[in-house]
Amino acid sequence: MKRPMKLGLSALALLTGTVLAQSVLPKLAVKPTYRVGFAQTESNNPWRLAQTKSMQDEAKKLGYTLVYTDAGGSTAKQVTDVRSMIAQKVDVIFLSPREDKPLAPVVKEARNAGIPVILLDRNIDPTLSKAGTDYVTFIGSDFIKEGQRVADWLVKNANGKTNIIELEGTTGASPANDRKKGFDDVIAKNSQFKILASQTGNFARDTGRQVAETLLQAHPEANVIYAHNDEMAIGAVSAIEAAGKVPGKDILVLSIDGGKEAVKMVVDGKINYVVECNPRFGPEAFKTLQGYAKGTKYPAKIINADRDYTPESAKAGLASAY
Ligand code: AHR
Repeated sequence: MKRPMKLGLSALALLTGTVLAQSVLPKLAVKPTYRVGFAQTESNNPWRLAQTKSMQDEAKKLGYTLVYTDAGGSTAKQVTDVRSMIAQKVDVIFLSPREDKPLAPVVKEARNAGIPVILLDRNIDPTLSKAGTDYVTFIGSDFIKEGQRVADWLVKNANGKTNIIELEGTTGASPANDRKKGFDDVIAKNSQFKILASQTGNFARDTGRQVAETLLQAHPEANVIYAHNDEMAIGAVSAIEAAGKVPGKDILVLSIDGGKEAVKMVVDGKINYVVECNPRFGPEAFKTLQGYAKGTKYPAKIINADRDYTPESAKAGLASAY
């Protein structure tokens, strides 16, 4: 009687048509040109537009094809966008995950389909996805440090203004989580300060304005607004003026991003301090893609250098702000 043949797992997969999940990063061939996906979260602010332009400019410079999608502020659409890039068999996917949990499964789906993913700007919850296994690396700012830098500036320059309203970014987005943690941890160590209220303004100017208006009415003693991005800070400036107060004087305004409009407001004294979050990802992103194809090993995070804009330095920095 014939013995049954022993089959290895991959032979079994071939026979049954099953796709075996790889738990290692896919390789990337060295090629003269690539078709590269870039899954953007939204395009409703200068930061996002600057990031997209930087990616498009660099792809053009290198002669690569950029398959660009804009999720329009919908996490569900961004999931679909990444799946469509997988179906189109792009060589690499650059992903700015709108939220840190719902995008984790598609990062693995891309990896299992043999497409390396490089996370740009926003991160995925590290308990759900791992650099070096699920995706190549994360390139972006240290968001915790950004929040800490804002709080450190406030502790030194508060001049008795200690009643804080915090405008948070998009719920579930890594910069919102980390900018809150970085700031709140420093504030907690300085007992003269009090966070009166902390609420999401969804990283958007008009929502930031509306939330600031409501919170200023509920907390007339507020004299500091910390916004997780420029757009909400600019919205807060309008809310302060609508409340008959002077932004930058009656109420200190602190922000993160460093777009031209906000930096100009620092020059004009309406915003007091801005920590930059550099959106010019193109050169580093594509250099990392090329290095990865050649076998370079990358750390879990590649951190961008960020400037800051104080009332003293903003004028000099204005021309080079995005
Ligand atoms: O992820 C970075 C943040 O996202 C920027 O601060 C904000 O403006 C953008 O929408």
